[in-house]
Amino acid sequence: MGAGLSLNLGFGFALANQLPLRDKDRPNVVFVLTDDQDLHLDSLQYMPFVRKHLIEKGTSFNKHYCTTALCCPSRVTLWTGKVPHNTNVTDVNPPYGGYPKFVNQSLNDNYFPVWLQQAGYNTYYTGKLFNAHTVLNYNDPYPRGYTGSDFLLDPFTYEYLNSTFQRNQEAPRSHEGEYSTDVMAEKAYGFLNDAVRDLENRPFFLTVAPISPHANVHITAYSETNQMSVFTEPIPAKRHEHLFKDVKVPRTKNFNPDQVTIWGKLVARPAAAEPVNVDYNDHFYRQRLRSLQAVDELVDGLITRLEGYGILENTYFVYSSDNGYHIGQHRLQPGKTCGYEEDINVPLIIRGPGIAENQEADIVTSHTDLAPTFLELLGIPLQGDFDGSPIPLMAEELRSAENARREHVNVEFWGRAIGEGIYEPKPEYSLYYSVWCNNEHELYDMTVDPGQLHNLLAADGHPLESEALIAGRSISDVVSRLDALLFVLKSCKGRTCREPWKQLHPAGNVETLADALRSRYDEFYAEQASVSFEYCAAGYIVNAEGPMWETDSLMIRDGAPWYEWV
Ligand SMILES: *[C@@H]1O[C@H](CO)[C@@H](O)[C@H](O)[C@H]1NC(C)=O
Ligand SMILES: *[C@@H]1O[C@H](CO)[C@@H](O)[C@H](O)[C@H]1NC(C)=O
Ligand SMILES: *[C@@H]1O[C@H](CO)[C@@H](O)[C@H](O)[C@H]1NC(C)=O
Repeated sequence: MGAGLSLNLGFGFALANQLPLRDKDRPNVVFVLTDDQDLHLDSLQYMPFVRKHLIEKGTSFNKHYCTTALCCPSRVTLWTGKVPHNTNVTDVNPPYGGYPKFVNQSLNDNYFPVWLQQAGYNTYYTGKLFNAHTVLNYNDPYPRGYTGSDFLLDPFTYEYLNSTFQRNQEAPRSHEGEYSTDVMAEKAYGFLNDAVRDLENRPFFLTVAPISPHANVHITAYSETNQMSVFTEPIPAKRHEHLFKDVKVPRTKNFNPDQVTIWGKLVARPAAAEPVNVDYNDHFYRQRLRSLQAVDELVDGLITRLEGYGILENTYFVYSSDNGYHIGQHRLQPGKTCGYEEDINVPLIIRGPGIAENQEADIVTSHTDLAPTFLELLGIPLQGDFDGSPIPLMAEELRSAENARREHVNVEFWGRAIGEGIYEPKPEYSLYYSVWCNNEHELYDMTVDPGQLHNLLAADGHPLESEALIAGRSISDVVSRLDALLFVLKSCKGRTCREPWKQLHPAGNVETLADALRSRYDEFYAEQASVSFEYCAAGYIVNAEGPMWETDSLMIRDGAPWYEWV
């Protein structure tokens, strides 16, 4: 596993003091959730309707992160408000993940749409819900919590031209030859119509989850235990095939660089790409942009209809993606699952009543925050122990949160690749720190090395340059704090995830890395156990995870907190 942290400043959020509204006055939500859409490769620049209707009419959260860069675990986090190590849905397929694991973890009875229905909302969903939600298990049991649903099913979820959808309690239906996103758009418009007809009684929450710009996955063999598939670039709708002929992957410094410093023995460390490989990657990139055009039209179609129904002003429109994507950065072939910025920093745009237009927000937010954010936005009491907290959305709340909100994001991954990091945009530090399951370490100073090209640590975690300073402290002093923070985060739960420094400093006098870097804590941090793993496991296996933080083992001695292994 791995974890990444993003640092801004402090903690605190304002609870909107909402009075109970009559049902017909409660706001509606339309949520468009794309699949593998980047923030860093400029895809939003090529979506004119998203720009016009959402970016220019709403607030863009530039520091929004997924908590794991893989579809199914990320979606489970998004719909439960819990980090993957608390859902234990860590993969796309059983035994560690997928829809069957979601059901086995009792999450189907206790997740966002269920809470929303209980609070009097009509809930509609079309598109991809989770992976391993299939033509064989779709009714065993049905996903709970939906007034109306029309799900894409595996193994045909990622076939752009041969999708299978399954509506309410009906049998699955193939749409061979039709374009997946266009089929979904019609379904979404139908649900919107249903929702509007019942608006006198109930407000609605409609989610539309198209597969674009995910790779196309063509299935060559399928049974309950076996799936053979071929991944290729995404397929656009016919009408968009001709677009963007000259567009290429942005040539950032970390695109196909001369050197890579990533340690990952678990990530294939590729050679500098040959021209033919670069050409393919550029083609792959263009196919992503082309496939997103149907999503762009879908956004326009939804907005136009909301306007036509006269409810646009009372509807929040939210746009995000389950995780990000890299193509050629760090010499990596197209893909995700890593902890690097391209994979984890994703779009989040919100427009609606009270939300500032054409604004950018730089507070640190993550997918764990979305379920509590939606609940609070809709005036529904927060239930359960969330690992995230409501995102301040209104301009005034945002301003006061800028210096007060938590500064970290904890990013995890199990399986073939691992990432753990610490970011921090302003003012003095911006860091990425990770410990791989083979106990190799990486640290990047993102203020001077945003492309993550110069790892400051040897594999064993010792600084490569003893003289270098970060935030005025030696690298080993900084690492001792980051490692302790990570140690708490990697097994945190609820409040511990939200306020990790408080675990280390129960008196509450340390709330940021800058606080923790005070020299009076040097001795304390020198004594802490380090993050280390016993072995690389394909899932969240406690024995593989190495020493775990235990709140009970924290003790206060001589005014300084410390803990010991019990
Ligand atoms: C997570 O699920 C896997 C697969 O079922 C299981 O082996 C493992 O023990 C679980 N981990 C925890 C911490 O419960
Ligand atoms: C879910 O639980 C059932 C019964 O305990 C078990 O047979 C099945 O293998 C489990 N599936 C997963 C994905 O863990
Ligand atoms: C499309 O999907 C159906 C199953 O829904 C399958 O029978 C058919 O062979 C697929 N067509 C192609 C061209 O793959």
